[in-house]
Amino acid sequence: MLARTALRTLPSTRLFSSSASRLTKVAVLGAGGGIGQPLSLLLKSDPLVTSLSLYDIRGAPGVAADVSHVDTGSEVQGYAADQLDQALEGVKVVVIPAGVPRKPGMTRDDLFNTNASIVRDLAAAIARVSPEAHILVISNPVNSTVPIVAGTLEKAGVFNPKRLFGITTLDVVRATRFLAGEVDASPSETPVTVIGGHSGATIVPLLSQSSFGKKVTGEKYEKIVHRIQYGGDEVVKAKDGAGSATLSMAYAGAKFTNSLLRGLNGEKGVVTPTFVRSPLYEDQGIDFFSSNVELGPNGVEKIHPVGNISAEEEKLLEACLPELKKNIEKGKAFVA
Ligand SMILES: NC(=O)c1ccc[n+]([C@@H]2O[C@H](COP(=O)([O-])OP(=O)(O)OC[C@H]3O[C@@H](n4cnc5c(N)ncnc54)[C@H](O)[C@@H]3O)[C@@H](O)[C@H]2O)c1
Repeated sequence: MLARTALRTLPSTRLFSSSASRLTKVAVLGAGGGIGQPLSLLLKSDPLVTSLSLYDIRGAPGVAADVSHVDTGSEVQGYAADQLDQALEGVKVVVIPAGVPRKPGMTRDDLFNTNASIVRDLAAAIARVSPEAHILVISNPVNSTVPIVAGTLEKAGVFNPKRLFGITTLDVVRATRFLAGEVDASPSETPVTVIGGHSGATIVPLLSQSSFGKKVTGEKYEKIVHRIQYGGDEVVKAKDGAGSATLSMAYAGAKFTNSLLRGLNGEKGVVTPTFVRSPLYEDQGIDFFSSNVELGPNGVEKIHPVGNISAEEEKLLEACLPELKKNIEKGKAFVA
């Protein structure tokens, strides 16, 4: 049982006949940071990654030299501050954890001023050098940085909504782990779909869609929802000024990257929540939304509807939508 659980948490080693020869170059922009370093290590352990390109304005060559000694098949190259274009050459997937993290008392939106321009400039370089790449945005505030990347690519005439993803996997990972603890089950039995966006009230866990989750009611329900929405604050507080979630985020980033690579390689039925350009609430002026998405050879294959939700979840969604709309508009205005 233990071995099975442990195996499930590792990146999938399921290789499809044609994928072993596939060249899948993955770039990490911000590879020298708190998330970037463990994320680079985890991607080095993913057999679906054949080449790893590590870029940061500080320290990426050192991280690359270190990670490159790990005895897995992929090659690793590090790039210094003035080598962004080289780092992006031939990449299939770009993961972006570049930017500043929160300190105690800050919301993710407080990071906007610094991170918006970092993400915009990186997106402009991707548009120029590797316009076909799939872009995975970790930098906060995700609700705004994803529209910023979309707007930047749009301006350059290369935006393909099937290839842009905001990584909300950490919310899913937290919801799954917290629910497992609450009902005393294995996390493999308590997956939770989390929809909406990636900050506070915009994070909407759908516990009613989980057989274990729907048993959690009353005060316990209120508590677990709050913990899923504000779990990031626990880490920011405990780190006491030294940043926000890095290790669990690296795990979540590697997990999502692995899901995308499996989809790109033709595996069927890879479904996970992610923040994408979405038709679900477009009629309310909200054109980015996280819901379950099937990943496939083109990236986004199918956006699943939200499905049946409880009255409590309806309320959470009502609180989510106006805030999410504001966050998206702020991102769009920045690149308008
Ligand atoms: N999506 C999520 O669930 C989630 C979770 C946790 C943190 N985050 C966000 O991830 C980001 C990174 O967090 P961290 O803890 O790794 O921060 P960090 O400060 O430890 O690392 C950030 C790295 O980005 C680099 N950087 C800055 N500007 C750059 C640029 N123009 N090009 C390339 N690299 C650049 C820095 O040199 C640094 O190495 C933050 O915005 C944080 O809020 C997102």
